[in-house]
Amino acid sequence: MLTRRILGALVGATALSLALSVPALAEPIVIKFSHVVAPDTPKGKGAAKFEELAEKYTNGAVDVEVYPNSQLYKDKEELEALQLGAVQMLAPSLAKFGPLGVQDFEVFDLPYIFKDYEALHKVTQGEAGKMLLSKLEAKGITGLAFWDNGFKIMSANSPLTTPDDFLGLKMRIQSSKVLEAEMNALGAVPQVMAFSEVYQALQTGVVDGTENPPSNMFTQKMNEVQKHATVSNHGYLGYAVIVNKQFWDGLPADVRTGLEKAMAESTDYANGIAKEENEKALQAMKDAGTTEFHEMTAEERAAWEEVLTPVHDEMADRIGAETIAAVKAATAE
Ligand code: LMR
Repeated sequence: MLTRRILGALVGATALSLALSVPALAEPIVIKFSHVVAPDTPKGKGAAKFEELAEKYTNGAVDVEVYPNSQLYKDKEELEALQLGAVQMLAPSLAKFGPLGVQDFEVFDLPYIFKDYEALHKVTQGEAGKMLLSKLEAKGITGLAFWDNGFKIMSANSPLTTPDDFLGLKMRIQSSKVLEAEMNALGAVPQVMAFSEVYQALQTGVVDGTENPPSNMFTQKMNEVQKHATVSNHGYLGYAVIVNKQFWDGLPADVRTGLEKAMAESTDYANGIAKEENEKALQAMKDAGTTEFHEMTAEERAAWEEVLTPVHDEMADRIGAETIAAVKAATAE
């Protein structure tokens, strides 16, 4: 007969072994989303929206950690970090995929290739966009979406009215050969530099000027160190939201479905606010009064176009004739 003491010990042991066999509550899957711009930009707001929706649609199975302002990595490092799995999600500018070996994305940098957001969306939200994203797979990257920023303005400490005004100016660019060709066509000296270093480089005169959509210029306070800007809208800057392919493919199917829904909705949100965010930023810089903004006449614009459109042919081999043709066919519709 079991004594009360032995019985007590047995009950305790059973309870203990039961407790040990019940799995601990699952830790959320962490998605580190690193980017280089301020939270208060189209991309920054899109990332925050994705964080909110991803956690909601996966019932907390996923924890998205957004790191803005190059807090974790600068431009080049963040792509390496994604491939190594140190971060899971990024939204680099389309001008930064060349060093990864996907030069087709530089098609977005061609001067005047998109008349407006509507023309751009025919590419980013259509078949040509899907074709472009699929080119990332071979690099171990899955492309999830295109997010808008906007059309670029040129800035410097001297007026930039005619192409001749660029002669000899040191202009900061992103790491795109098309942007290098663009600045060369203007007679400027292009200098590739990480986004996080631009403000200081402008302030200290390491470079004379730059190009960026108003939202980036304003949120980095570049207007405080640039006396002149021309609202040229000569080219586009936007993003591809990308994930480490191995990480993405390894997610439980229901989690991935929740994340896809969150991505679709945050893409609509980001692309819905981009134009207005840029208009507001431009107005805020005009109000700040530290930069003189020049609106172009039709003649001035024609002179810029004449100098800059030859870049399309010059860069055709690099980008790939097929990609250029797909983009031009989509925008011609
Ligand atoms: C830049 O480097 O100028 C931009 O790509 C920054 C960004 O991510 O918008």
